[in-house]
Amino acid sequence: MGKPALSVTPGWYGANPDTMDLKANPHDAYRTLRESQPVNLQPDGQWRISRYRDIQKLLKHSHSGMRHLNGLIPRETREETEASKFMLRMDPPDHDRLRGLVSKAFTPRALAAIRPRVQQQLDRELDQLASRDQMDLVQDLALPVPAASMCAMLGVPFEDRDRLSGLVSLATYRLAKAAFPDLQGRAEAAILELADYMMNLIDKRRASPSDDILSALVAAEEAGDRLSVEELLQQSIGLLIAGLETTIGLIGNGMVCFSRYPDQFELLRQRPALAESAVEECLRFEPSVPLTVRVLWEDTEFSGVTIPADTPVWAILIAANRDPAVFTDPDRFDITRREAKHCSFGGGIHFCLGSHLARMNAEVAFTSMASRFKGIEVDESRIEWAPSLFRIPASIPAKLRRDKA
Ligand code: HEM
Repeated sequence: MGKPALSVTPGWYGANPDTMDLKANPHDAYRTLRESQPVNLQPDGQWRISRYRDIQKLLKHSHSGMRHLNGLIPRETREETEASKFMLRMDPPDHDRLRGLVSKAFTPRALAAIRPRVQQQLDRELDQLASRDQMDLVQDLALPVPAASMCAMLGVPFEDRDRLSGLVSLATYRLAKAAFPDLQGRAEAAILELADYMMNLIDKRRASPSDDILSALVAAEEAGDRLSVEELLQQSIGLLIAGLETTIGLIGNGMVCFSRYPDQFELLRQRPALAESAVEECLRFEPSVPLTVRVLWEDTEFSGVTIPADTPVWAILIAANRDPAVFTDPDRFDITRREAKHCSFGGGIHFCLGSHLARMNAEVAFTSMASRFKGIEVDESRIEWAPSLFRIPASIPAKLRRDKA
C-alpha cells in the first residue's frame, strides 16, 4: 500500500506571511508548513507547495506558465498585463525570444571580463577598512560587489549604486500587489524613476555604443522588430531588479552564516577551493528569494493532491531547500555539502538567467573576506532588513578579527 493521500484543510500552518517574521527566522514556520500541509490551500484561497520534489515537478515538468489561460497575469488587469514585458512575466513564444536576445549579451566572455573589475572595486572598498575593526557587511561588501558587476554590465555609473538599490528594493513590491497594497504607490513611483534613469542611459548608448550589455540590447532593438523600445527598457530595469538586490541578499545572508558557524569560515580560509560549494550552501541555507510562482495550465497532482487548471501555485523555495527527503541534516550549514541542487534559482524555462553572475559575485566576496580576516562576528540583534519583498538585509554590523592583533 502507498502512503495515504494528503487531506487538504485550509490554514496558515504557522506560516502566515502577515504575522510571521519572514526575514529573520522563516525556517521554523516553513518547516511546520512543509511537514503538516505540504500542499496548502491558504485561507485567502491561494495555493502553495513546499516539498522539494513537488516544486521540481511544478517548475520543470508541469504544463504551466506565468499567465492564466486567458493570457492575464494573476491578479492583474488586461491593461497591466499588456504593459508587462519583462521575460519573467511572459510565456513562450515571447519569453523565449526575449530570453534568447538577452542571454546573447550575457556571454561567458562578458562575465569573465567583469570579474576582475568586481575584484578591483571590492579590493578598493576593503582596503578602506584597513585600520578598522568593524564593518557593515552590506554597505562595505554585499552592495558594492553586485553594484560593481551590474554597473559594468549595464554601463551604469558606480556612484549611482545607493540610489538604484533603494529604488530597486521598492520596485520589488510590484510583484506582490495583493500582499502589500499600501506600498504600491511608492513601488510605482520607483519604477517610473528607474524607467527614466534607464531611458536616459539607452539614449546615451544609442548615440555612442560601448561593450556593455545595454549596448548589445540597443543593437538588437535597432536591428528590427525583434526587440521593441518598451521591451528593451523593461528587460534592462528587470535585470537591475532581478540582479542587484537578490545578490546583496546572497552575500549578506551568507556572511551571517559564516559568523554563526565560524568553523565553516575557518574551513573556507584553509581551503579557498571550497568557495564554489560554499556559495551553493549559502544559496540553499538562506535564500534571498523565498518563493516563485506558476499558473497551472491543466489539473496537476502534487503529493496526492490535485490542484485544478488555471490556478496560480506558489513554490516555497526556501522550504524545499531544507526538505529532509533530499538533504541530509538539512538545518546544518555545511560548505562541503555535495547533494541535490537547491531550488533558489527556480527552474525550467525561467531558471535564473543571472545565476552564473550571482555565483561569481558571491565567490569574489567570500574569498576576499576569507583571505583578509580571521573571523567575523555579526551582532544579529542589530541587523536591519531592506523594505523588500525578498530577504535582503540593509545593514549587518560586524566585528572583524585579523590574523595579527
Ligand atoms: C543570488 C542571486 C539571485 C537569485 C537568488 C535569483 C533568483 C531568481 C529566481 C528565483 C528566479 C525565478 C525563476 C523561476 O521562477 O523559475 C529568477 C529569474 C531571473 N533572474 Fe535571477 N536571481 C539572482 C540573481 C540574478 C542576477 C545577477 C541576474 C542578472 C543580472 C538575474 C536575472 C534573472 C532573470 C533575467 C530572470 C528571469 C528568467 C526568465 O524568466 O527566463 N538574477 N532569479
